[in-house]
Amino acid sequence: MKSHNILYSNGHLPALKLLDRHLKSKQYLGSRFFILGDSNTIDHCLPLLVSEVGALQESEFFEVEAGEGCKDLAVAENLWLGLMESGADRNAVIINLGGGAVCDLGGFAAAAYKRGIRYINVPTTLLAMVDAAVGGKTAINVGDIKNQAGFFYLPQRVCIEPAFLQTLPQRELLSGTFEMAKTFAVADKERYSQFCRLWQNDFSIGEEMIYACANIKDQITKRDFKDTGERKILNFGHTFGHAIEGAMLKYGKDALSHGEAVGLGMVCAMYLSTKKTGLPEKVYGDFAQKVRSLLGKQHFTPKTMDTIIYNMYADKKNAVGEIRCVLLKDIGEAVCDISVSEEEIRDALGVV
Ligand SMILES: NC(=O)c1ccc[n+]([C@@H]2O[C@H](COP(=O)([O-])OP(=O)(O)OC[C@H]3O[C@@H](n4cnc5c(N)ncnc54)[C@H](O)[C@@H]3O)[C@@H](O)[C@H]2O)c1
Ligand SMILES: [Zn+2]
Repeated sequence: MKSHNILYSNGHLPALKLLDRHLKSKQYLGSRFFILGDSNTIDHCLPLLVSEVGALQESEFFEVEAGEGCKDLAVAENLWLGLMESGADRNAVIINLGGGAVCDLGGFAAAAYKRGIRYINVPTTLLAMVDAAVGGKTAINVGDIKNQAGFFYLPQRVCIEPAFLQTLPQRELLSGTFEMAKTFAVADKERYSQFCRLWQNDFSIGEEMIYACANIKDQITKRDFKDTGERKILNFGHTFGHAIEGAMLKYGKDALSHGEAVGLGMVCAMYLSTKKTGLPEKVYGDFAQKVRSLLGKQHFTPKTMDTIIYNMYADKKNAVGEIRCVLLKDIGEAVCDISVSEEEIRDALGVV
């Protein structure tokens, strides 16, 4: 089912033209648009946005520093001050032009400004197109803890224009492909096979696959907006992934991106799925081989291994003293809250 709040090329009109049409509709009469970007997207993506979207030609824009650091309360406050200075009222609309960091920050700022103004996501990374921009989770980080403060607050539209990916560094692109593999693995067997066939080193993943993935996330999050049930399956690979990401940041020679860590986390979770929930060995084997060809064999030192396990116990999503994971019975058949022992975790970490 196609989602009406995700805009993408309909074959006649490109996504940005559909966005233009949307912004010129009656619901925005008297609205002012404020574009939020980071130092990279203002350079690489803003020119295309304003040239294609006439409605945004006169818009003011705000620039934040690129990267995770912008998901910060002081940055949000600066944005609110900027909006106030410009006289932004309750009809103002924030247009987030960027990856997951900008979308999370801008959504957060919109949710709180004057108790909530509208916003639109225009994702510019693959990860944001298929994941972060969709589903209405907004957040900033507090202290060392990611996404600690935020709102469930939906954007009016998510506009997916794959042309933005042309300037995205290869490693960021790779990061997004792992999240795509995750969504298809938990939700759609046919798409998963199709995706795996296309998932070559040159990332020749067609636009249609990007739209399909964003749509699946949209459908799942619509059915379970507040993340109390089905939406949890989107955490597949993330219990291991977050723990690996954190440990490699601390001890690894080369930090892993979020998507890369999730890729490794999915290998661990698929391995355990073959032992505990009946996932066919071949599915695990093919996926593990693909990840190995992209990221190489991992050699966790004993210290890194201990930190990963410590991180898994500290994960706020786990009940005290127990580690629970999303596992697969098969592709497209995820099961939540499967308890795994420390021994099983050590065993699984050995296979990546
Ligand atoms: N809200 C959600 O549901 C959700 C889901 C997944 C991830 N996230 C969040 O998303 C964030 C990660 O998102 P991300 O991977 O997109 O990272 P990001 O937003 O930090 O972008 C990665 C880098 O790419 C640059 N960039 C973006 N678009 C570009 C383009 N078109 N050309 C060149 N450079 C470009 C950015 O400036 C940045 O340096 C994390 O903060 C994570 O917590 C949120
Ligand atoms: Zn993720």
